[in-house]
Amino acid sequence: MAQIEKAIKDKLISLAVEARKASYSPYSKYPVGAAVLTASGKTYTGCNIENSSFGLTNCAERTAIFKAVSEGERKIAAIAIAAKASSPCGACRQVLSEFAAPEIPVIFVNLKDSGEKEIEDHTLGELLPCSFNQEEAGL
Ligand code: THU
Repeated sequence: MAQIEKAIKDKLISLAVEARKASYSPYSKYPVGAAVLTASGKTYTGCNIENSSFGLTNCAERTAIFKAVSEGERKIAAIAIAAKASSPCGACRQVLSEFAAPEIPVIFVNLKDSGEKEIEDHTLGELLPCSFNQEEAGL
């Protein structure tokens, strides 16, 4: 795993927890927050944004990634996700892989009913093995 400083990891965790508060999730009532660190050292946050046409929902991870990319960022160095069960969905893993190396830390912040935060450390490569490879595809 590409290492990040503990202070930065702690910051990403609190940013993801804070971002979750803005979640627009009236249908699922399942709020999710995310925070990405870019190679330039900036952070961007996101929450899930639902829609009455359910399939149009945008996950927290993609909101954060799209905010970063729309500000000109192209390399994501780490991501933290905060939810009751914070493992990112397959679509978000694939979108992340467009802008992140397999070694990057993906930090799960599982929010327990007790108020405790359970932290799980993963890498993108572990979560998305044998991923679609743009170069191999000649794209
Ligand atoms: N959700 C996320 O924001 N990220 C994920 O990786 C999984 C699911 C959101 C989508 C929807 O608003 C709610 O969680 C329930 O699926």
